[in-house]
Amino acid sequence: MENTKYVHGYSDREALRLNDQAETLDEIIHNDTIFSKGSFVLEAGCGVGAQTKIIASKNPDSTFISVDLSEASIREAKKMIHSLDIHNVELRQADIYHLPFQDETFDNVIICFVLEHLHNPMEALKEIKRVSKNGGTIIAIEGDHGSTFFYPDSTYAHSAIDCQIQLQKQNGGNSNIGRELYPLFKSVALSDVSVSPRMVYVDASKPQLVEGFIKNTFTAMIEGVGKKAVQQGIIDSSAFEKGINDLYRTSEPDGVFSYTFFKAFGVKENAL
Ligand SMILES: C[S@@+](CC[C@H](N)C(=O)[O-])C[C@H]1O[C@@H](n2cnc3c(N)ncnc32)[C@H](O)[C@@H]1O
Repeated sequence: MENTKYVHGYSDREALRLNDQAETLDEIIHNDTIFSKGSFVLEAGCGVGAQTKIIASKNPDSTFISVDLSEASIREAKKMIHSLDIHNVELRQADIYHLPFQDETFDNVIICFVLEHLHNPMEALKEIKRVSKNGGTIIAIEGDHGSTFFYPDSTYAHSAIDCQIQLQKQNGGNSNIGRELYPLFKSVALSDVSVSPRMVYVDASKPQLVEGFIKNTFTAMIEGVGKKAVQQGIIDSSAFEKGINDLYRTSEPDGVFSYTFFKAFGVKENAL
């Protein structure tokens, strides 16, 4: 069954956006996603496999099981992994809250851009911890919309971003979860917790990020919630449109855009 509550939905456009996002952010968020040779790794909430192809290729000597709630996304991910000739990944439909694995199965678990959509991220982390081996590492990567700033500044653009924050909250999620990763990891008694902020700073000297991040990742994501936000009366359509235009405006030659992701590392040293 599809999770209709997932705020971004499961359209082809969203699949494309997830792939753009993953490719654009590869160096910034996955430069240190390196597992020891022979590791057995769970990727929780793999979606259409946008991160899967990157982390599996970076770690050819590890074996991955990548799971997602959406059967349709798993089908897409399988096609993509097959077309890229990647052989160290098994894809399965599964719910993060009820993982179909025995205690202490995995050497490492990675979860990327998923906790922000869950109504109970702490329960999800407990379940992830359950299936991790003692001494295993858990990695979570999340954004935080409160970290967004840009030039030229625009109240319309901030209001458009706020639509996403509100809709995600209505679905039980949290667009500002990046800042909460440290307390979340501590709350499930992980050891050696460390959080590393990954700032994506973009100006015209970085044309790839102008395209890949400002336009195709961030603004595309906000644009995607416009219809719902207007339908629900959170904003009127002309204000939303102005906000989106002002976000695109930051991609012009004098524009600047900044956003910070957070990557948390923790080690399981005890059962909860
Ligand atoms: C923003 S997407 C991220 C996908 C992928 N990690 C990426 O970065 O491209 C969030 C994913 O979390 C999945 N998801 C949400 N709730 C879930 C649950 N309870 N169990 C497994 N996956 C879940 C959704 O189906 C969706 O594919």
